[in-house]
Amino acid sequence: MKKKLIIMAGAILFVSMVGFQIAEGNLHMFQSPGAEIQDYQDSDYGLGPNYVDKLEEFPELGKGERTPFDLYKYAGKDKSSFMERGLGMEWEEWVALHKEQKPKLMADVKSYMKGRYNFSNEPIDGAFMSGNRKQIMKGPISKLPRGINSYEDLAKLSAEEIKDRNLFPFVPLAHPLHTTAHMVFPNQYLKYHPEHARIDVDHDIPDLYLPEFPAPMFLTTHKEYGDVTKGKEVTLSNYFEMFNGLLTPEQLEGLKELVKPTPSTFFNHTTHRVTLEPSAGVSCFSCHVNGHTNGAFEVAPDTRPQLARLRIGTPSMRGNYNLMQLASKRSIRSMDHFAEVEEYFEADPGMQQAIGPRSQQRQVTNRMGDFNAILDFPPALKLGPLYKLIPSKATDQELLGEKIFNGKGQCISCHSGPAFVDDYMHDLKVERFYVGRPEGPIKTFPLRGIKDSPPYLHDGRLMTLHDTVEFFNLILELKLNKKEKDALVSYMLCL
Ligand code: HEC
Ligand code: HEC
Repeated sequence: MKKKLIIMAGAILFVSMVGFQIAEGNLHMFQSPGAEIQDYQDSDYGLGPNYVDKLEEFPELGKGERTPFDLYKYAGKDKSSFMERGLGMEWEEWVALHKEQKPKLMADVKSYMKGRYNFSNEPIDGAFMSGNRKQIMKGPISKLPRGINSYEDLAKLSAEEIKDRNLFPFVPLAHPLHTTAHMVFPNQYLKYHPEHARIDVDHDIPDLYLPEFPAPMFLTTHKEYGDVTKGKEVTLSNYFEMFNGLLTPEQLEGLKELVKPTPSTFFNHTTHRVTLEPSAGVSCFSCHVNGHTNGAFEVAPDTRPQLARLRIGTPSMRGNYNLMQLASKRSIRSMDHFAEVEEYFEADPGMQQAIGPRSQQRQVTNRMGDFNAILDFPPALKLGPLYKLIPSKATDQELLGEKIFNGKGQCISCHSGPAFVDDYMHDLKVERFYVGRPEGPIKTFPLRGIKDSPPYLHDGRLMTLHDTVEFFNLILELKLNKKEKDALVSYMLCL
């Protein structure tokens, strides 16, 4: 950099000596003296001395190469912000690599997940998701660390002690193949959509702990129909028949765009892909099935290096009309804008040249937004118009849960209003409990209809509502007892 500066300065000197006039407009390319200031004071900003040195350096890996499952322990910078356009090898080699790598990878993923969770497959008695077909699972199933007998015992320890003794059960979850990352569809969905099966990686959470497929769809404009799909998956081939005469032409057009497949970074017609056969791509509803979610996960587009991108479960589109914050970290304020920037290309314009641009005309994304805006939350029969439980309809346990939610549990400070969300991003500072890369502020997720969208938190690291209560009890240091925690779960089932 210095050398360049000297050459530039020399050039100016030469030019001015021989008497040329330098146009003033060119001066903006010269280095600012501010860039040379050297009196920097190092600070740990509260994380502890030389915090970043406690983290491991991200390994340098090519596309498709296996990544550590505990990526939260790593930090560092990539060589470039842009994704390599090619696979770095011939297609045949790519297929062979994954044929060889996948069985062992998936066996390791399975044992990692078994190490973290006790998938007991035990449902909550009589509790069903809104379609009344799928049971809601009981927790907590996050495994307690060795030597700790109960969540109550764990909650007696301070954040420092939990961190020092490496006892935190709720560390972030990574994408099982983070170098390639991109969408991973659950098995329950692949049964109906084998075209989206990947040659390199499979979903890592059992179907029982995921949303129902296909989820029911509720419209703000037609409450009288309940689930307007009557249990069917809405697709490009049936949407018209199902919705013609029920939607405005604008909404119908928007829905069409949401169910129409377009090429994405790894699901497309080129060889830059993860399906064995060339693919027509995916549609918005490939993940947001029926305007909800099928539990597919991705990595968020907002961070680099690639290995630092947070794993993100597909959020529901239900009730988006009432949200002012879209996407976990990008603070996007309108659905039209979201549809324009969504992550088909990994937020990397370079990739468009490799696989072709998609149509992002405003008209189209506006219409997607128009349909999105009438997707309603599921009915909450026990809630009155002020979002309070109607006492005659609620059990004592549910009423106790509401009291804790609004009082001792302090949930209401961030989960309030018609969607039980404050529309802010909060830094929960979870890194107080483990050594790892801090995740920073994340948007509060709405709790209306929450029983329908496991797993929980942005990365889906919490498999049940019981686990979310244990998580918040620990990180907010609430010291709730077992009865109060169970009551909170019963209450959340009513929302
Ligand atoms: C993996 C499959 C997947 C596909 C396909 C997909 N999304 Fe998403 N969607 C996600 C994920 C993951 C997020 C969370 C992104 C984030 O947090 O940054 C998301 C977030 C959203 C949100 C914000 C919701 C919220 O609560 O913050 C909207 C709106 C949305 N998607 C609309 C769309 C539209 C429109 C399309 C099609 C153009 C689409 N999505 C395609 C997975 C998908
Ligand atoms: C300081 C603000 C704050 C408080 C207080 C708070 N939450 Fe949250 N809640 C959040 C944020 C932020 C997220 C998303 C965090 C993430 O994804 O990493 C969240 C996520 C959740 C989720 C998962 C939502 C989803 O769609 O995955 C549940 C369930 C939840 N909170 C329940 C509670 C309960 C119960 C309480 C009270 C015991 C509570 N929260 C208190 C901010 C808060």
